Amino acid sequence: MAETTRSDHQPVHGDLAERVRQGQALLACGAGTAGRLAGTGETEWLRSLDGVDLLACPTVEQAQKLAADHGLSHQTILDQVVILASAAEDEGAAEVERVHGTLFDLIGTCYDTLIDRERNRSNIAELYGILQICDGHRGPVLDFGCGTGISMSVAGRPDEMYGWDRSAQMRSIAATSGLRIVHVASAEGLPEQAFAGALASYVFDLPTAPDAVGPLLRSLRPGGALVANFHRDKNLAQVTRDAADHGGQVTVHRRDDRHGSMLSIRRVAD
Ligand SMILES: C[S@@+](CC[C@H](N)C(=O)[O-])C[C@H]1O[C@@H](n2cnc3c(N)ncnc32)[C@H](O)[C@@H]1O
Repeated sequence: MAETTRSDHQPVHGDLAERVRQGQALLACGAGTAGRLAGTGETEWLRSLDGVDLLACPTVEQAQKLAADHGLSHQTILDQVVILASAAEDEGAAEVERVHGTLFDLIGTCYDTLIDRERNRSNIAELYGILQICDGHRGPVLDFGCGTGISMSVAGRPDEMYGWDRSAQMRSIAATSGLRIVHVASAEGLPEQAFAGALASYVFDLPTAPDAVGPLLRSLRPGGALVANFHRDKNLAQVTRDAADHGGQVTVHRRDDRHGSMLSIRRVAD
């Protein structure tokens, strides 16, 4: 059986982007899991960051089968990235959480080739449109979880756009799109009452995002609103509850099969 080869912990962005363009699936897995996969001959190590390894596999289905063959749990996100974890529930959950924390730093350079860019553009356009009809939208708008900065090519008033993302890699890529990046290390550091509105496109369905509702609402001026979609309605109930706990006024704007439900959460006037 052929041995998998490892790229010596060096970033191989070009290789990675090329593989994704060729329709190959990616696997991300924790270091422990990686050891159990070695020797299958079906995968190739691409990158490693903070103990999370990234592998290429010919198709998502093969990646999922690989997980099943090795008794691992798997979770598919962005329709192409499969996170493998130990099948043991307690161990596995911690591994998946760790991978999510690093994921966008690992895949940032090929993110735009992984997604359906038109879908994200149309989602951002809808969110931005909803923000326009919410009171208090005039003034600076924060693109929360801005990714590579797609909003810059969609927003009607790009000069009012600011961006922040928890991934440093994404923040630096977004800066090249012209988005003005807020230079803080965490959502808690966002300036208070700084933004007239905020949008979050394909962010709140991720497990790393729901906790950010409180600090995000505090960064809005009283009367300002956060508008977000919830892909497959993931985390919708939790965020709705948390928003109410932080004094936010929640409105469901639409139920949309393509992008999931869209909510606005208004910071009520103090
Ligand atoms: C699927 S991408 C969406 C990027 C962009 N909004 C778009 O529509 O293309 C999710 C982004 O959310 C970021 N993210 C995840 N959790 C976050 C959090 N708690 N705070 C800020 N950004 C977060 C990720 O780093 C990633 O860039």
